[in-house]
Amino acid sequence: MKDRIEKLRSEAEAYLIADQESLEQFRILYLSKKGLIPALFDGFRELPADEKKEIGFLLNSLKQFATDRYNSSKESLSSAEAATTGRDLSMPSVPFGMGSRHPISIVRREIIDIFSRIGFTVSEGPEIEDDNHVFSMLNFAKDHPARDMQDTFYIEKISGEESDPHDVLLRTHTSSVQVRVMESQNPPIRTISPGRVFRNEAVSARAHCIFHQIEGLYVAENVSFADLKQVLLYFARELFGKDVSIRLRPSFFPFTEPSAEMDVSCNLCGGRGCNVCKGTGWLELLGCGMVDPNVLEACGIDSVKYSGYAFGMGIERAAMLKYRVNDLRLYFENDVRFLSQFRTEIV
Ligand code: DAH
Repeated sequence: MKDRIEKLRSEAEAYLIADQESLEQFRILYLSKKGLIPALFDGFRELPADEKKEIGFLLNSLKQFATDRYNSSKESLSSAEAATTGRDLSMPSVPFGMGSRHPISIVRREIIDIFSRIGFTVSEGPEIEDDNHVFSMLNFAKDHPARDMQDTFYIEKISGEESDPHDVLLRTHTSSVQVRVMESQNPPIRTISPGRVFRNEAVSARAHCIFHQIEGLYVAENVSFADLKQVLLYFARELFGKDVSIRLRPSFFPFTEPSAEMDVSCNLCGGRGCNVCKGTGWLELLGCGMVDPNVLEACGIDSVKYSGYAFGMGIERAAMLKYRVNDLRLYFENDVRFLSQFRTEIV
């Protein structure tokens, strides 16, 4: 027994501990439950009583030696690691840089939230559309200027005197989703459709070739203009605060009759007039109206039984009013110095 203890001791002394891996192997070999030293302790029990004292002493000092060697190697390895990496590994880690949502995403989410609270669902349609869903079924005249190549990005334009209903194009507004929803669902319909739209515009502070819109549509029995007005007032108050006022100005859209544009009171000057609202006290936010019976019929909905309202707004426009950032290009450049300013607005 004595010999075995001495042999183990000299082996443990000579064992090369060069890294974390060999340190762990040392521990397993000598100190772990099934290691060589605990195995000697098992044999210790069977020794005659007169040998126990001396052997017990040797065994304990062997165990102490191996434990000390393990602990001191562990310590020197971690300080060596700190020296080579140049870092103090016991320091708390550097906090992660938190990302932030894009302001357009924040406003889109907020608008979706506001309408979901009053029962609107969210629906989406394709960005690559056809003439039918973007123009014809929305009651655009064959020679309407919006169909012009100067305004619309065509992917495939079938040339000819008259615009072909199978032209493939990038949708110029999310009103096309109205058509897709009405084609495939029966009233009552209450939905909003957020999405990207594309127009053939030169990029400037006030115009961009890509932007985002949210379309709203409600079709049921006995829907009136008063319903539309009330929902828009609710929406404006939720988005801009209780003190906001709205006004509706008569307007024209091929797909609504009557049509209107909605302004909100300028949140910068409170309606007194400033350079943001160009002295008028009002800021234009969206277009709206009662769905034209021709549109309902084109989508297979009985325009005698049902009526509806629709509205559409630019998300960049809403974000501009909310954050007073009035250069559209900033929303597309993805400069982190701009985006990180919205960090606290995560919703
Ligand atoms: N589609 C229109 C646009 O892009 C916005 C719009 C106006 C949508 C009136 C509507 C509406 O649903 O009723 O400018």
